[in-house]
Amino acid sequence: MPKKIDINFRKTCSCSDSHINCLTAKEWVKGQVAIWELYYKKRDIRDKDIHPAVFPIALPKKCMELFTHKGELVLDPFVGIGTTLVAARDLERNAVGFDLNQEYINFTNKRFTQAQLNFGKNTKQIAICDDAINIPEYLNEGTVSLCVTSPPYANMLNHRRLNKSLRSDLRKNKHYKEVQQYSNNPRDLGTMRLGGYIDALAEIYKGILPLLRPKAHCVININDLWENNHRYPTHSYIIEAMEKVGYELRNIIIWDKRNLVNKVGIFGWPSNYITLSTTFEYILDFWRKP
Ligand SMILES: C[S@@+](CC[C@H](N)C(=O)[O-])C[C@H]1O[C@@H](n2cnc3c(N)ncnc32)[C@H](O)[C@@H]1O
Repeated sequence: MPKKIDINFRKTCSCSDSHINCLTAKEWVKGQVAIWELYYKKRDIRDKDIHPAVFPIALPKKCMELFTHKGELVLDPFVGIGTTLVAARDLERNAVGFDLNQEYINFTNKRFTQAQLNFGKNTKQIAICDDAINIPEYLNEGTVSLCVTSPPYANMLNHRRLNKSLRSDLRKNKHYKEVQQYSNNPRDLGTMRLGGYIDALAEIYKGILPLLRPKAHCVININDLWENNHRYPTHSYIIEAMEKVGYELRNIIIWDKRNLVNKVGIFGWPSNYITLSTTFEYILDFWRKP
C-alpha cells in the first residue's frame, strides 16, 4: 500500500483568501476570453519518438494562473513526460503527476534533474508511476487546488497515422502509417474503445473528487474522435460522465490551434464537408461544488 506523499498544499502568497488566484484585475480580464491561443516554445518537447501527444507548457500554466495561488497543490492524473510539473515549477506551485508508463516517468525525472531552473525551489514537483485509479492512496482529502490534464483520447492512437490533414507532399513523414500507442497495458486508457474509456475515466475522476478542496477546478483537455466517417463527440460524453460522478461544468474553452496547422492539405472535397479536427481542441473546466 503506497504511503501518502509528503507535500505542501497551502498558499504561500499574501493574496486575500477570497481570491481564487494571484492575478491582478487587468490580468484577469485577459483570462476571460474563452478562446485560447497557445504556443509551443523552444523548451517544449515535441519529439513524437519521446511521447506522441504532449501539450504546450503554456496550457497547464494558464490554468494554474487562473485557478491557484503560489504554494498550492496541483494534480495531473495523466502526466506523460511531465509538462504540467514544469509549469508548476515555473509558477512555484506544488504538483504531483501520475502516469502508467515507467519510461515517461523516467524521462520526467531526467528532465527535472537536468533543468537549470532557479525558481520553484520552495516547492516540490513529483512524478509517480501508477494507474490513476490509485491516486486516492497518495493524497489527503481536500488538499488539491487544481487538477489539470490531457487524458488519452480513447483509442485514437490505435489507428495507423495517415496524416490526412497535412499537404500531400508532407504526408509521408517518419510516422506515416505507424501505430504509436502509449503502451499495450489494458489499463492504459489509450487502448480502450469509447464506451469502456468513458467508464474508466469517470471511475478515476470519482476517486479524485474528494481530494479536491471545495470550489477547486478540474480541467480536461480533449478532442472529439472520427472513426469510419463518424464523429464521436467525446467532449460531450465526458461532460455527462463527470456530472454523473459529482462535478459541475463551469466553462468550455476552445484551444485555437490554427497557429499549428499551417501546412494543411485538402480532404473531403467536393462531396464530404468535414472541418479539420486538428484546428481546435476542447478545454473543459469543472469544479467541485462548494
Ligand atoms: C495525452 S498523454 C499526456 C501528455 C502530457 N500532457 C504531456 O504533456 O506530457 C496521456 C497519458 O496518459 C497515460 N495513461 C494512460 N492510461 C493511464 C492510466 N490508467 N493511469 C495513468 N496514466 C495513464 C499515458 O501513458 C499517456 O502518457
